[in-house]
Amino acid sequence: MQDRQTIINKIKSLKKERNAVILAHCYARNEVQDIADFVGDSLGLSQEAVDQDADVIVFCGVSFMAESAAVLSPEKTVLMPDADANCPMAAMVDVPSLREMKKEHPDAMVVCYVNTRADVKAESDICCTSANAVEVVNSLDADEIIFVPDKNLAAYVAEHTDKKIIPWNGYCPVHNQILEEDVILAANDHPDAEILAHPECRSKVLEDSDHVFSTTGMLNYVKDSSCNEFIISTEQGIMHQLEVENPEKKFYPVSKFAFCSDMKMINLEAVLRSLESMEHVVTVPEDIRLGAKRSLDRMLEVRR
Ligand code: 13P
Ligand code: SF4
Repeated sequence: MQDRQTIINKIKSLKKERNAVILAHCYARNEVQDIADFVGDSLGLSQEAVDQDADVIVFCGVSFMAESAAVLSPEKTVLMPDADANCPMAAMVDVPSLREMKKEHPDAMVVCYVNTRADVKAESDICCTSANAVEVVNSLDADEIIFVPDKNLAAYVAEHTDKKIIPWNGYCPVHNQILEEDVILAANDHPDAEILAHPECRSKVLEDSDHVFSTTGMLNYVKDSSCNEFIISTEQGIMHQLEVENPEKKFYPVSKFAFCSDMKMINLEAVLRSLESMEHVVTVPEDIRLGAKRSLDRMLEVRR
């Protein structure tokens, strides 16, 4: 077995050889975040996939993210170090069921969360991420919006718009299992801490929080905040960036169960194997790619 430093050195030299960049979501393993060229939220990663001047993107997240990179940058080779890293929420909506819902609401426009497969994006009018969902919905020229697949994010958007939101019944199993009781217990243990929650959490959890942010939104807020302690209601992987960027501040996960096993599938060995063998290449059929690109481009035109 190779030691960690040897693996890191090999990754660095292969990256140069292949003109590759490593993009990692903030829920990725700590050691993967540490070797990444860019760590961010779903919106930031989509933008980086376009902006990076590289031939190869090694995507350390889950498959819908790598797929979005392949949709936006077809001239680059997008690699997923572990092809089995999938988001369970993205699997909760499919095209035939979405078409049925569209038939039931012919005047509605469809906003799909970026946590969806490319064919669902192609079937939607526009994508959104947790960082821009409200702004995307408000940018549309329709009074009714079908919002797929996250019912919790849909409820959050409904609170912040005058439009009628028709939610899908999907959810993130990781965020949905965070309960109001978890927040109350954490707040009792850390009475001076500010509570930051991700909008994939249940409404009750959001109501009990001080602020609601995407993952990058949390990182930005904490950097500028005069508060020194925070309770974090999202997947635990973000604790690493928070601690690296703010060594003087304290962070408490709201629940020890807020852990996404799909996001942890990619480890350093998998990144190295991927760069050595140029696997697993992510491709999207061209007709679906063009439809999904339209939805993603439209989102990227809306300010964050
Ligand atoms: P953001 O990083 O966009 O907030 O997304 C959270 C998430 O659950 C990604 O899978
Ligand atoms: Fe999907 Fe939730 Fe995991 Fe994000 S944290 S990849 S939304 S299951």
